[in-house]
Amino acid sequence: MDQVVADYIVLLGPPGAGKGTQAQIVARTLGLPHISSGDIFRENLQNQTPLGQQAKVFMERGELVPDEITIAMIRERLLRPDCAQGALLDGFPRTPPQAKALEQMLAELGGRILVVPFISVAEQVLIERLSGRWTCRAQGHVYHEKFNPPKQSGVCDVDGSELYQREDDKAETVANRIRVYFAQTAPLIDYYRQAGLLVEIDGAQPIEKVTADLLEAIRARQ
Ligand code: AP5
Repeated sequence: MDQVVADYIVLLGPPGAGKGTQAQIVARTLGLPHISSGDIFRENLQNQTPLGQQAKVFMERGELVPDEITIAMIRERLLRPDCAQGALLDGFPRTPPQAKALEQMLAELGGRILVVPFISVAEQVLIERLSGRWTCRAQGHVYHEKFNPPKQSGVCDVDGSELYQREDDKAETVANRIRVYFAQTAPLIDYYRQAGLLVEIDGAQPIEKVTADLLEAIRARQ
């Protein structure tokens, strides 16, 4: 009998490209856990855990949390039973050492990267998206005051919790996050292209169209 291989999907893209928005929809559609490194850090920050305290200073500056801390956190999450059949990764890996560490983890888990959709969006659009973003306090559901407004202002459609604007969506911090993305994460585009895993998705389209393109790219590889 063939050995079952678990498929992991890695969403790549700049801050504000729509990774979180799409990951929530795609993970639900495919029945996969949605693993967002940013959400895990924010949850730890909110609960004032030691991990949250370590990450705080980097997140506030719009810098990456050091690889060692981030890799250990994702490793712990991927080893939980719900990820044994695969997962959708949003925001990890973000540096070449994180990409290498993911390969090692998946080798241990008997998994593989199925596809790396790269959600591509022009820089000017990213700034507009992040400055109008509202996030749900309870579970991180994402809205935009112009492009994807909630039914009732300030309230999450899904769980009724309060919507807030992220600290790191301030103009100055956004500019640094974009700089950091080009310096440290963009090299992964070529890395995964050379591995034959990258599929570029036009993230400037309406949300529903981006979802359709993503699902098509994923299903073409399954
Ligand atoms: P993280 O939370 O991962 O932030 P990010 O990568 O900067 O991504 P965002 O969440 O800002 O954007 P997104 O692409 O998810 O866009 P969204 O769907 O919300 O990381 C935060 C911080 O944590 C990092 O700065 C770092 O410090 C740390 N961190 C996380 N991972 C790390 C790692 N691996 N290593 C080290 N440090 C790490 O959409 C944005 C807005 O646009 C929303 O308002 C949405 O409604 C709207 N929108 C989405 N799609 C569309 C569309 N098609 N049309 C119109 N509007 C749209």
